[in-house]
Amino acid sequence: MSYDRIKLKSLLDKVITAEQAAQLFENGMIVGSSGFTKAGDSKVVLPALADRAKTDPLKITLITGASLGHGTDGKLAEAGVLAKRMPFQVDRTLRGKINSGEVLFIDQHLSETAELLHNKNLASVDIAVLEVAAIEADGSIIPTTSVGNSATFAALAKHVILEINTAVPMEIRGIHDIYQAEDYPRRNVIPIVAPENKIGRKTIALDPSKVVGIVFTDIEDSPADIAEPDTKTTAIASHILNFFEKEVEMGHLSSSLLPLQAGIGKVANAVLMGFKDSNFRNLTMFSEVLQDSTFDLIDAGVMDFASASSITVSKPCYDRVFGNLDKYRDKMVLRPQNISNTPGLIRRLGVIAINTAIEFDIYGNVNSTHISGTNIMNGIGGSGDFARNAYLSIFVTQAASKEDRISHVLPMVSHVDHTEHDVDILVTDIGLADLRGLAPRERAQVIIDNCVHPDYKEQLQDYYDRACERGGHTPHILEEAFSWHVNLRDQGSMKK
Ligand code: COA
Repeated sequence: MSYDRIKLKSLLDKVITAEQAAQLFENGMIVGSSGFTKAGDSKVVLPALADRAKTDPLKITLITGASLGHGTDGKLAEAGVLAKRMPFQVDRTLRGKINSGEVLFIDQHLSETAELLHNKNLASVDIAVLEVAAIEADGSIIPTTSVGNSATFAALAKHVILEINTAVPMEIRGIHDIYQAEDYPRRNVIPIVAPENKIGRKTIALDPSKVVGIVFTDIEDSPADIAEPDTKTTAIASHILNFFEKEVEMGHLSSSLLPLQAGIGKVANAVLMGFKDSNFRNLTMFSEVLQDSTFDLIDAGVMDFASASSITVSKPCYDRVFGNLDKYRDKMVLRPQNISNTPGLIRRLGVIAINTAIEFDIYGNVNSTHISGTNIMNGIGGSGDFARNAYLSIFVTQAASKEDRISHVLPMVSHVDHTEHDVDILVTDIGLADLRGLAPRERAQVIIDNCVHPDYKEQLQDYYDRACERGGHTPHILEEAFSWHVNLRDQGSMKK
């Protein structure tokens, strides 16, 4: 064990095992934990809690930054530990328990959780589990591959368990920028005017008297699954890149565009990789997650700087970045998620947001979270923080899936995450619809003309034409609006 990672010597006697730490939790507790899109999560204490619960049942509310890695959410759900979970998850087992009603889930904008905690709009956190690289002599802590909500948990939790991860190099110190806005009613301006601005401290302040246990680990983050671009994601990426080129030609944007935000996944990766062979230069990111493509663009000299709350990358990229931190130190920053996703900063910087939809409708409403309006997939994540406040809000999805039995462009979305008022551009593998400056009836025709899979084009046009005969600002045939979902449920296809 690397006791030299505990610089505050009075904490040395707090070192315990993960099993001992698991005994510190009590039934009904509110638990805050580090971890954001699999990065910087608890590697041993939460799994040990799941093990304990198999013979000694207890239930907690678990609040994190975002999703956890190593199947931890699934293990906790399987062991019956989770009464309530927020603000985001991506785990198949947990998803099943949420959809069966066994676990309650609050699907929350990622910028908002810390605000609700600080403003006492959520019950206070009893105990926090925070992965750290080390503890400084003043008791402050150095986060690892994500910041997430850790600064908020450190400030507000009654007790704190620290997981010192020795797999994370000490050189990580300095890539974090920890800034927390003042309490209301006298909150000041957050002084970030460019993605590279660093305005806070390098470590998270922590009152050492709250530390009830320190556990050592040496387990790396779960690697990101990188799916190779396919014909659909390549087509979507090319529609977006062509659109950006036209915006530059028209003088709306320069060749460095504006700071980019990209959701996690293969489409976002394909779009970002498309920049590599383009004429765009000096790009920046103001996002929540940095993926492999960010570091590929930095290495290619195409991207100058990237700001986010976590780094979620494949194993080869992890080794490249964390083995050469000095090379990337001046090119990236990790912030608390209520700063990386602050609506005011997204508007100020003019972020171009690219996120993924499960489905969208002819008027531009987007569902990013619920299958057929009922079963949660993952959650809204940061997509709402960015989409509503972006300079340009782009949503992408495949036009059709499952042997084309499912159309992702529909008369009416079965659940709304992003309203027509928040969405500027919709893209499928078929094409791109630019909705800026269009009224609902104009939007519907542009979406039908450009985004719909050929198997569904006539069907959607027919719906829209008949809806228009009935009239209205946003014409609909209510008794038919969800018939596509009903057909899928009853006949296995949305085709008439
Ligand atoms: N009925 C049944 N299944 C449906 C459906 C319907 N009406 N509509 C879509 N689906 C299925 C698709 O067939 C596909 O199934 P598959 O995984 O078995 O192929 C699945 O839903 C959607 O997957 P896909 O289109 O491949 O999307 P994805 O893996 O890129 O994920 C989101 C899309 C929207 C789920 C994901 O991006 C997400 O969770 N977004 C919200 C969070 C976010 O945006 N964060 C942003 C910052 S990181």
